[in-house]
Amino acid sequence: MSIPAGTDATDTLWRRALDLDAADPLAGYRDHFVGTDTDLSYLDGNSLGRPLKRTVTDISSFIQDSWGGRLIRGWDEEWLELPQAIGDQLGRSVLGAAPGQTIIADSTTVVLYKLIRAALAAVTDPARTEIVLDTDNFPTDRYLVEGIAREEGLTLRWIDADPASGVTVEQVRAATGPATAVVVLSQIAYRSGFLADLPAITAAVHDAGALVVWDLCHSAGSVEISLDDADVDFAAGCTYKYLNGGPGSPAFAYVNNRHLAGLQQPIWGWMGRKDAFEMGPGYEAAPGIRGFLSGTPAIFGMLAMRGTLDLIEEVGMAALREKSQQLTAFALELFDAWLAPAGVQLSTPRDPALRGSHMTVDHPAFREMTAALWDQDVIPDFRAPQGIRIGLSPLSTSFAELYRGVAAIRELLSGQESGTPHPPEVTSEVGGEATGAVTGEAAGVAGGFDKTADVPLN
Ligand SMILES: Cc1ncc(COP(=O)(O)O)c(C=O)c1O
Repeated sequence: MSIPAGTDATDTLWRRALDLDAADPLAGYRDHFVGTDTDLSYLDGNSLGRPLKRTVTDISSFIQDSWGGRLIRGWDEEWLELPQAIGDQLGRSVLGAAPGQTIIADSTTVVLYKLIRAALAAVTDPARTEIVLDTDNFPTDRYLVEGIAREEGLTLRWIDADPASGVTVEQVRAATGPATAVVVLSQIAYRSGFLADLPAITAAVHDAGALVVWDLCHSAGSVEISLDDADVDFAAGCTYKYLNGGPGSPAFAYVNNRHLAGLQQPIWGWMGRKDAFEMGPGYEAAPGIRGFLSGTPAIFGMLAMRGTLDLIEEVGMAALREKSQQLTAFALELFDAWLAPAGVQLSTPRDPALRGSHMTVDHPAFREMTAALWDQDVIPDFRAPQGIRIGLSPLSTSFAELYRGVAAIRELLSGQESGTPHPPEVTSEVGGEATGAVTGEAAGVAGGFDKTADVPLN
């Protein structure tokens, strides 16, 4: 990677970035990813992970040999088992889940819907009429819970979350009690990157006699997770962020063994039925986590994530978490040196134990500036009203790449201060196909993706 514009080769922070890369035991893994040999600074792997080089051959050989060669026989020979086989690998390497509790299926939104409804069905006490959620959870989680509460005639109890941090154990204790049925929370807040205390919150929910559904979208592949040890009831998450499954790759669902026997998920499809190919009358759920399926598994979308799971098994989540903490610590150093003096606010916890793998910084110029950054091949994402999120993927992000990205933000801010017309005028199309397909969450945005629009950032 060449020296970024505006940087002197003797610049202390540039030297530090190079030293951190040289000392990084995971540095070599960057080469496993497509496109990492350029000067592009990708700071959005918390939204859509880079593809692995291996994925190119995995997909091509799948088309050639498996799909093209075995054709429909593929279902019997391998594909039907993939949702569980990959689910078990994910459980083992990332989630701290014993086999038989994790499955790959649907989108996170659909999986969360099934889990929340299944959790509610497992609550038998009619006095438990409340679902607890927080004001800063990801939009899909809030909308789902609002819709389910309406369907089921339940009451919403909102926790007012601090947008620069997140939901605390104390807040959960205060919001739960004999009326609580289910609590729905994200382990890592999608804006601030706040890392919630999953074991303590799970215990607090159980003390109140309720069940918890965790959204692990921003934590799967970025922090160590022990779902079984924490006795979590239900969890769901994306595979297109830190697991590099590709745009719209299917989600995962975790259901604790102790709930599996009586599981009642609401979308009764043929693939979740016992003896699916008997095609018999009536619905009887397949035993175990398989009963969580509804329709035909999206096999093609499951291929890419396997490469990352293999790498994670090789490296271990502890090493990934360590690198992630070093990356966010270096991002903070750059923030303190360059962005804070330019009036930028930090909206992420400073304590490394309280943050995941992304950082949010706020400034009134960031809405326009994001488009200018993208045009310079510096790719964070924008969060309305004025936040830039800097996402750091431990396997693929280098310290020099991070330096380059934050230096570009510094340059644009200093151009603003000195009156230079920054951010430069954007002549390329910002909302159309040229730059549009950028993130997993953009899939639901009709008609392309406006970089500066108030869109849901995951
Ligand atoms: C925290 C969180 N929850 C839920 C979702 C929704 O996922 P999907 O669009 O795959 O349904 C996202 C999407 O990015 C997310 O970031």
